[in-house]
Amino acid sequence: MSDEAQLLVRLDRVTRTYADGSSTVVALAETTMDIPAGRLVTVMGPSGSGKSTLLSLIGGLDVPTAGRVTVLGRDVAALSPVEQARLRRRVVGYVFQDLNLLPGLTAEENVALPLELDGASYRSAATAAREALARVGLAGKESRFPAQLSGGEQQRVAVARALVGGRRVILADEPTGALDSATGRAVIELLRRFCDTGGSCVMVTHNPAHAEVADIVVRLRDGVVTEVEHRTNQRVGVPGRTA
Ligand SMILES: Nc1ncnc2c1ncn2[C@@H]1O[C@H](COP(=O)(O)OP(=O)(O)O)[C@@H](O)[C@H]1O
Ligand SMILES: [Mg+2]
Repeated sequence: MSDEAQLLVRLDRVTRTYADGSSTVVALAETTMDIPAGRLVTVMGPSGSGKSTLLSLIGGLDVPTAGRVTVLGRDVAALSPVEQARLRRRVVGYVFQDLNLLPGLTAEENVALPLELDGASYRSAATAAREALARVGLAGKESRFPAQLSGGEQQRVAVARALVGGRRVILADEPTGALDSATGRAVIELLRRFCDTGGSCVMVTHNPAHAEVADIVVRLRDGVVTEVEHRTNQRVGVPGRTA
């Protein structure tokens, strides 16, 4: 694999501003960051500090006012709308705090959806969805509707939907916010395992305990990165980790 492909995400002096009447809100200022394959990044900071803006920019849901975001070596802002949509369906997956599963679809159908939107056959999408559900520990529960699953199980379905189809990057915005700490911990372990198998994850969290499994801890305040802590002891076999 080329160095460029190993470097899944790169932010180069990325700024995002919003016009607010006559003044300007700087949601994210001059942020530079490299996220190689295999790394789990946690982003912490007070409300309004730019955490969700950072994820939206990496995921191609938003484009910078200045600077450049590259995913797998490609400038996200330079992609056509069709290519941006393809990036979201094939390369980057999202997990949100809100249970955003479609209630009328089974777990398997929810997970298969991004693949079907991307043109996969029903059969191949269903097979990949079952594999992804097995990967998050939900084998046997494929036919359940979201309401028939616990909150933690629903969040696992959301993780399966974010990684299905061989996606490389998962963006998670407070994915454990609605869960109790043990269940939240299980979701974090899934994201850690995704990174240990070559993916990258950028996770917004308010829980300092979640930084324990991170390789890189980023702290934001008022749109400015105030601290980037590289942790070196998180590869494999860390005592106390259940994975
Ligand atoms: N669509 C928008 N229009 C105007 N201002 C926005 C918009 N999105 C975010 N902001 C502003 O940018 C700043 C950062 O927001 P956000 O990234 O959502 O912060 P966080 O996720 O850390 O709470 C906030 O001041 C917010 O009000
Ligand atoms: Mg936010």
